[in-house]
Parts: sequence; structure tokens; C-alpha cells
Amino acid sequence: MSDEALANLSTEERRFEPPAGLAAGANLTAASYGDAAADRLGFWAMQAERLSWDTRWEEVLDWSDPPFAKWFVGGRLNAAYNCVDRHVEAGAGDKVAFHWVGEPEGDTRDITYAQLMDEVCQAANALTELGIEAGDRVAIYMPMIPETVVAMLACARLGAPHTVVFGGFSADALASRVLDCGAKLIITADGGYRRGAPSALKPAVDEAVAKVEAEQSGLVENVLVVRRTGQDVAFDQNIDVWWHELVAGSSTEHTCESFDAEHPLYVMYTSGTTGKPKGILHTTGGYLVGAAYTHWGIFDLKPDTDVYWCTADVGWVTGHSYTVYGPLANQSTSVMYEGVPDAPHKGRWWEIIEKYKVSIFYTAPTAIRTFMKWGDEIPAKFDMSSLRVLGSVGEPINPEAYVWYRETIGGSRTPVVDTWWQTETGAIMISPLPGVTAAKPGSAMKAIPGIVADVVNDEGESVPDGSGGYLVIKEPWPSMLRTLWGDDERFKDTYWSRFKGMYFAGDGAKKDSDGDLWLLGRVDDVMNVSGHRLSTTEIESALVSHPKVAEAAVVGASDEMTGQSPVAFVILREAAGDGGTDIVKELRDHVAKEIGAIAKPSKIMIVAELPKTRSGKIMRRLLRDVAEHRDIGDVTTLADSTVMDLIGKGMATSSQD
Ligand code: PRX
Repeated sequence: MSDEALANLSTEERRFEPPAGLAAGANLTAASYGDAAADRLGFWAMQAERLSWDTRWEEVLDWSDPPFAKWFVGGRLNAAYNCVDRHVEAGAGDKVAFHWVGEPEGDTRDITYAQLMDEVCQAANALTELGIEAGDRVAIYMPMIPETVVAMLACARLGAPHTVVFGGFSADALASRVLDCGAKLIITADGGYRRGAPSALKPAVDEAVAKVEAEQSGLVENVLVVRRTGQDVAFDQNIDVWWHELVAGSSTEHTCESFDAEHPLYVMYTSGTTGKPKGILHTTGGYLVGAAYTHWGIFDLKPDTDVYWCTADVGWVTGHSYTVYGPLANQSTSVMYEGVPDAPHKGRWWEIIEKYKVSIFYTAPTAIRTFMKWGDEIPAKFDMSSLRVLGSVGEPINPEAYVWYRETIGGSRTPVVDTWWQTETGAIMISPLPGVTAAKPGSAMKAIPGIVADVVNDEGESVPDGSGGYLVIKEPWPSMLRTLWGDDERFKDTYWSRFKGMYFAGDGAKKDSDGDLWLLGRVDDVMNVSGHRLSTTEIESALVSHPKVAEAAVVGASDEMTGQSPVAFVILREAAGDGGTDIVKELRDHVAKEIGAIAKPSKIMIVAELPKTRSGKIMRRLLRDVAEHRDIGDVTTLADSTVMDLIGKGMATSSQD
């Protein structure tokens, strides 16, 4: 965000009051803040009552060994039972859990809770047959199809933590995650549909399995493959198993056991400041409490009447908490869509909202900005009067996009909840409440009831209203990450060492004159591209692994559509000469291969030198100035100040995008 935009924050005068009808019957009310503040643990215990526990907890929170939290100590439950079986037992078996919409038009499936239960039980029996037991890790690399949810829930049912890897990630990224968490099974599909064509997944899995095999022979015992597209795939009879043969043939009877509240539920890898992604560990009880409470409270969910749709892929944490666990724990009817927003036409999402009468809709600012660009006439063709709450997540939403979303998609009736949270937090932490808050466009407003957030200065002191600093969370919360998989030290260092006794989120934030919060983006070497987290170091490592590259520096430059985009500055090895005419394409493709297409730099500059301090540190600030076409600031600390002239001139004449 520019300095000017920062200065404007406090002068934002628009307020969007909650609609009277919504306010009158809202799930969370103004009193909820007071209730939670008066007895925070009692408030969380009340939220935990939404779940069905086989054994009730003895203690709400054990914080005797910070930052290692134990929530709902002694409690036992099964996450899959809570998401599925109990709703069937309560007589809601015929209720639709998912209106699934495939990308090819007409390819749809409505899945009831009873059907979901049968499929989860079959999958749990199939996994057991493949030798999966409680504690074993299972990697899931799938398109957005019902079997993905079934696979996750089957793992949860068995107490086998899943690690879902976004289908857009490369074979290398999949292999490194499988190795890091020691997954013995990979569940995948032959492919999915993207913009009308089947995309391939299985070849990437085969490549990943070969890589894993080279490092740790015998780790991956099986690959379970869903047939989605019917395209030809290589099939190794020794490890590959067809889902439709094994799962469909399994019994629909499966008795689930309960697990300790702190039993691992899943590991989700996300980018940190180093090249190696971090395995965020979430556990069963606290996570499910957090996901269920926030989904119910922040979206004002009325399970009997609402149709809810979160557009996030389940390969990201938003898909975990707000497509799978939160909605199912709350017995919601949700939409799940396989494809992209513009296939076969740019009104596809709005058509889906009209068809299923979606009432709660949750998406990312980058999508909203894209729709703004495509024009108001596209959503105007559809009847979206069913919508009553809109949500935004993943990156700061600029006020123009917020207002457009509210007016053009929400018909000026719907509150927009701008929800701030992270893979680490497991659930929404800062957000307006749709029935309470007079929301300001662009502000996530306040910590939700039960959460204590603040903005602090370098010394960890709370800043006064009107000032900026670092966002911190001051008290533990149920859905907090418990550690980084296999790396307690990195967990402590990354989140708990910067400010004593506080969780450091890595985001900058400002309190306006009313004390409301404005998120300002990351303060570390993590960038946010279309709401997806990428680390500059990870992309640098990918570039440096190319044989022609000697050194690389990557910065996240502001981008009107995607929030930020990676811009790379690369020094080639001498032996590579000028790298050849296709060097930029070659390097971009290389990054896609190493990490995934989302990490491809939008611009690559081949440079002779990088700006470094006398101690050899790359001055990324200067590179960001160049990438964002700003005047280059103070260069006095540079070892060689002429470097920036050369880079600046190069940037001005480069036209590639
Ligand atoms: O910088 C913040 C940004 O996304 C980061 C978390 O990314 P990830 O773990 O991938 O989770 C994304 C979905 C929850 C945060 O550190 N972020 C997320 N939501 C917002 C946001 N920035 C501003 N406003 C938001 N509403």
C-alpha cells in the first residue's frame, strides 16, 4: 500500500451498517464481544459445545508450556463423525452437503449427508486395507471433486493426518512435502478440468514418487487414483490402485474411534521466509472448534436455509476450514466448483449463484478485481438476490473493490466481511461481524469475540490509535497451529521470539483513529500473489537451481490485479553468455516446474550486478523501488552505487510481462 493510501486510511468516512433484518437475528451480537472478554476460556468452552465429544475435556486450555498449547485437554472426538455421521444420526441424512459443479457444463452431483457418510466409510475401509493407521500421514493431490473431501474425511476418521497439496503445485513441490511429513500414501486423480481441457495430475505424482523413492526408498507404498477425466495414465501395478475399484467395492459400514483433542488432524505446507515451506500442524479438537465457530458466527450461518459457497481450492487452508471442516461441522449445504471462473464464459460463478440460490459467498480480492475489470454487465445478467452475506479473504481488499463487491454482486444489501487470518491461525481472527459492525471498506475492523489482537511497535508496546506497527495475537486460541511439523525450534523462532509472549503474524497493520485495524501486508520476505503465499527465497532458490543462473533476487512488486507479483533480478553464469534469446521464458518455465505456475515471475531482468550492502546483503528495498517504477531512494549504503543506475535503466527499457 502506498504512503498516500496509508494516510487516507483514517479519513475513510464510508460506513456500511448491517441490514436491520440480519442484525435482529444475528448469530453473534455486540454482546458476544463482552461475553468473550469477561470469560475467554468459558466463551471457547461454549463454542466447543457445538461439537459432539466422546469424552468431555477436563481443562479448556493448558498453557503451562508456551508456546505449546493444549486445548480441551482430555477431550476425545472424531472430526469426521462431527462433520458427517452425527448429522445423519440427527435425521439430516437427506440434506445436501454439497452441490458439486464440475467445470464441463451439466456435469453436476448433489451429495447428501447420508451419501457422504457412505463414501467416507468406504474410503476409510479402503485406506485401512492399504495399511493406513492412526498417525500415518497421507498426501492428497487432487482437483476440486467430491472424492477430495471424501479422502480428507476418511483420513480424519482414521486419525491419519492428511497433507493436501494444491493441484497446481509441481511434482518437486509434492515430493518435498511427501518427504517432509513422511507420507506413505498419495491420493490423486488422473486429472481435472481446467478451461475446458483435462489437466494432468498423475504424471506429476509419478515424477514425485520417483523423486521420493530416490531419497527415501519404500516411503510411498501406494498411490490411490480417482478416475475423473478418463485420460490415459501410466499405471504401476506395484503401487497404483484405482479408487473406483478399491473404494467403491468397500463396505459402507465403518465404526470410527475417537481421538485425543490434540491428535494431529492435518499438516498444511505454506511459504515462510526461507526456501523450505513450513508444515503447519493443526490438531483435532481446537481446530474444529475454531472452524465451526467462525463459520457459524462470521457468516451468520443459518444451516436450515443458507446455501454457502467458498470458492477456495481445498489445496489451501481456506478450502480446509471453509469448504470442508467448518461448513460440514455446521451441517451446511455448500456449493463446490471444480473449474475456473471464466469457463466456458465469464459469468460462470454468477450463474452458479443464481442456480443454487447461494446466500453466503466467500472469495478473494484478486477474483473481485478481475470481475471488476471484466465489467458490470456480466454479473448484471444473473439474479443474485439470494445473496445475503459476502466475504473476502487472502489479501487486503482495496476500498474500490470492496464497494464494487457490495454493490454489484451484493446489490447494496449485503454486508461484506473482510476476514483476516492465516494458515497458521486455522480460522478467521479479525473481521467485521455481519449483524453488528458498521464496516469501513478496506478494513478488517476488529478481532472477533474470543481473539485478542493488537498492533505493537518494535519494542512490543501497543501503539496508540492512528499509528502503525506489527500485528500480534496476545492470547492463545483453539485453532492455533501447534508446531511446525518436525521443527519445534523453527516454530518458536518464527512466531514467538520476536515479541515476548505474543504470536507474531508477520503482517504490518495500522489502527485508525477509532482503533479499527487495517492490514498492510507482510513485513517479511513473504509475498501474496492472488491471495497465495509465496516466499521470495523459495523462488530465488528455484531460479538458482537453473544451470545458467549464478545469483537471483526476487521481490514482490505491487500489482493491480494480483495484489503482488514476483519480479526477479538474475545474474547469469559466465559460461551461459547472454543466456540465449529465450532465457526469460526458460527461467519462468523453470520456476513453474520447481514450484508451480503461480510462482512464475511476472518479470525477469537479467542484470550484471545486484545492489548489495558492503556486508554483502542484497538490498531488496531498492529492487522493489525499481520493480514498482519508483525513484530509487537512498543508495549510500550500497557497496557500488552505479549498480542501481544500470538496473533502473534496464527496467525502463524492458517490455516483457
Ligand atoms: O498477509 C496476510 C494475508 O495473507 C496471509 C496469510 O496467508 P495464508 O496463510 O496463505 O492464508 C490465506 C487465507 C487465510 C496473511 O499473513 N491476508 C489474509 N487475509 C487477509 C490478508 N491480508 C489482508 N486482509 C485480509 N483479509
